[in-house]
Amino acid sequence: MEKLIGSVLEAGELFREGFHSAKEISHKGTVDLVTQYDVAVEDLLKKSISSLLPEHTIIGEESSDEFRRAQKAVYIDPIDGTTNFVHKIPFCAISVGIWEEDKPVAGIVYNPILNELFYAKRGEGAMFNDRPVSVSNVTDLQQSLLATGFPYTKVERGRDFKWVLETMRNLLPVTQDIRRLGAAAIDLCYVANGTFDAFYECNLKPWDVAAGILLVEEAGGKISNHTGAEYRLGDPIIVASNGKNHDKLLAGLAAYGEE
Ligand code: IPD
Ligand code: CA
Ligand code: CA
Repeated sequence: MEKLIGSVLEAGELFREGFHSAKEISHKGTVDLVTQYDVAVEDLLKKSISSLLPEHTIIGEESSDEFRRAQKAVYIDPIDGTTNFVHKIPFCAISVGIWEEDKPVAGIVYNPILNELFYAKRGEGAMFNDRPVSVSNVTDLQQSLLATGFPYTKVERGRDFKWVLETMRNLLPVTQDIRRLGAAAIDLCYVANGTFDAFYECNLKPWDVAAGILLVEEAGGKISNHTGAEYRLGDPIIVASNGKNHDKLLAGLAAYGEE
């Protein structure tokens, strides 16, 4: 764990340098941006992590065409929150999640701009800047501060877009409020440390959530898909909460309709 954290902190230096520099921006989709730093930070992490964990398959956002399952996998998001990174909004992070036999065993989320380091090892609790953290105690949905995100697929105005709007219509009046920070890995960590009382989002990829899921679970929270069943990487919707408001939150989600 210490060596893994060392690799992430080292990659964080390049991340920080990029945040404050001019960037070459290209588009992966209509509004899905990528910079030279996404690629360079991922390359750096892949090199150092593959030497630490030679038996693991490394699945990085910028170098994997699609999500694959592996017995032993490392999911890397070199910059979660690229739109924030490009606009110099300081909510962006490196996310590294290690999964074995479809379960998370270690996770690190590091925001080099705010100097926030979250990490967890299965069975050993969740840490934030070297102190143990736990989820909030709010039970009432009306007093719960939620976070969410908007999928890039919104531009197609299809089922994800409808689900986002319908769910917002249901939940906004019955919660304290809903935040959209722009980095799913950080949203999950902020559920882990009690900043947010819950989080939900549609169409996230394994590298967005692989680390944050373990943080939430190790901090005493709950993760499921929209039906309340166990969340599996690749499921269309993730719901993370302090566990006490989970069922009320599930009840407010719209049905995830046909395409
Ligand atoms: C995105 C962020 C954002 C979420 C998007 C993700 P990226 O990741 O986590 O908060 O709403 O769905 O794709 O593209 O910045 O790595
Ligand atoms: Ca991401
Ligand atoms: Ca990314």
